[in-house]
Formats: sequence, C-alpha cells, structure tokens
Amino acid sequence: MASTNPSTYADHGSPEGDPDAGRGRLGVGRAHGKVILLGEHAVVYGAPALAMPVSQLTATVTVRRCSCPDGSADQLSFAVAGSGAAPVTPLATDGLRRLVAEFKEKTGAVGRVCAGVLVDCAIPQGRGLGSSAACARAAVLAFAELFDRRLDAKEVFDLVQASETLAHGRSSGIDALATGATYPILFRAGTARELPSLDGVCVIADSGVGGSTKDAVEMVRRKFERNADAQAEFVRRVSSLARGAADDLAHGRSGDFGARLTENHRLLRDLGLSTDRIDALVDAALAAGGLGAKISGGGLGGCMITLAGEPRQAQDIVRRLHEAGAAQTWVVPMGRFARHGD
Ligand code: MEV
Repeated sequence: MASTNPSTYADHGSPEGDPDAGRGRLGVGRAHGKVILLGEHAVVYGAPALAMPVSQLTATVTVRRCSCPDGSADQLSFAVAGSGAAPVTPLATDGLRRLVAEFKEKTGAVGRVCAGVLVDCAIPQGRGLGSSAACARAAVLAFAELFDRRLDAKEVFDLVQASETLAHGRSSGIDALATGATYPILFRAGTARELPSLDGVCVIADSGVGGSTKDAVEMVRRKFERNADAQAEFVRRVSSLARGAADDLAHGRSGDFGARLTENHRLLRDLGLSTDRIDALVDAALAAGGLGAKISGGGLGGCMITLAGEPRQAQDIVRRLHEAGAAQTWVVPMGRFARHGD
C-alpha cells in the first residue's frame, strides 16, 4: 500500500520527474551472514529455530543514483565488488529489482529510480550462510539512506522477506532477521528473541559444494505433501530439540546443547538434506572433540557447524575439518557483537 503522504525525489531539492533528480547521491547499507544452529526446514512449518549472526561475513550495498534515460521504467544496473567475487545471479538481481518496487510502494516514493547498485558481499553464495538475505537487507538500508527514509525493523523485515520469498520460494523469515541481529536469536513465526550465549565457540565449515535452499525447501515440501505424518513427526521432534536447546543455553549446558545439534543433524540427514561430504565433516568434528555437529542452512551441500568448548579446541577441530575436506572454515564465538556502522 502506498503511503498516504507520499514524498517524492523532490525531497532532495530536485523537482519531481526531473531525470537528473538526486544524481550522484549515494546510499550505503550493511548486513552480515548468519548460521542456523538448530531448526532449519522445520521452522518453515512453524517450529522454533535458533540462529546466530556471523559478524565477520559482511555484505555492503552501495547505491548511486544516476540520471534516467528516456523511457518510463526504473533502471538498475548491478555490479559486484572485489576480484574473484561471484557474479550477482539473475535470481538475486530479480530479488533486488522486486525489492526496489516494494520499497517504492511501501515508502510512497514516486518517480523513476535509476541507480547503479554495487554489491560487496563476503558471504559465499549457496552455503546456507544468508548471502541472499544479507544482500537484500543491505540493499534496503542503502535505498532507505538514498531516499532519506527511516524504516522501522518491521518495514525492513517485510522488504527483505519479499526478496527472500522470490529467492527461496517458501521462506520462514529467519534469514531476514538473523542477518540484522547482533546476538543469537530464537525465532518463531516471524518474531525473534535474544538467546543467552554459551562461552563456547562455533566452527563453521564449508563443504565446498553449493546447495540451493530453494531446491531443498521444495524437495522437503514435496516429501511432506506425500506424507503428512512425516511432516508432523519432524516438526514435533525439531520443536522439542529447539526448546531444549534454548533451555540449555539459559543454563550453560554446552554438552546437552551439542548433543541436540547432532540429533538435529540425524533428522535432517534422514530427510535427504545432507551429503557424503557434510557427513564426513560432521564425523571429523565429533572425532576432534566437537560437542555436537550438524549440517546448517538449506542443505543439499553448503556448510556444517560444530561447537567447541573453548578456543584451543576449536583450533584442533579446524585442522581436522580441513583434513576431512573442508574448503573454508570460520570460527565464531557465541555472543553479542557491536553493531556495524549503519
Ligand atoms: C534457510 O537458511 C533456512 C530454511 O529453513 C528456509 C527458511 O527458513 O526460510 C531452510
């Protein structure tokens, strides 16, 4: 719905309709990656899930307005920063285009948007680390800055979700929230609360093989369509694990928390979401003393996560994960981090 008080690009001192309005003006937005600790897929069906921001994996989007050529449509061009960076996929650009259309509708901004969008994303794509949601969130914040709009948390969430639904099909909203959170969250049905943290350190390992969240969500949907009992049982068991895990965090029970991660891995593997590589990484992490380990995110490839009791143990786990074929690893202490400058 358009705002009842639509403002125009004339906000910036240029007459509405002027193709050069705001030309050269910049907006910058930032977000970060996320990792799902427990509850992926079940969360799409209403189960609670736990996720954590990965502050070292950042996404920055810079939008620069340019003059609009003749014609009536918005014009967006996309570029990716950094040598060797993965190109912005057509799906991602479709999501960002949709996002601009929704942004205009929600904020009541009128007129054409002609802009160059520079995406600088350190979050590997197709690894379940929230790259699409983080890029969308960074883009929303960049456009909000460009057009001097103060969006509240719900408005940002709704805009990111619109883009995520295009990217993932059915989408719970956990990525849209976790990529902007500065602390671990317990997510359920579109809302999140802060979770207490353990002293532990999470290690994330990339299997080196991408997995499509959209395909994974669709695969699970088809399975459950054929077998409603399997859906109910999966959601029941994961809900119980997620509630137990939140309780473990509240009481500092890292061993129990780890065991629930591994149990969640078994449930996801039984649904066909894991791969031989991920299973090998899970086994390696447990053999190296990880308190628990599981695939994380959409699955069918991507990343696994394990919990180390302390940083020194995390080093051993990292070494063993690389020996077992991990393409990349990240060590992420659990806890709150300071907000980045946006
Ligand atoms: C993706 O990070 C998590 C999934 O549960 C999908 C979603 O919740 O939108 C697989």
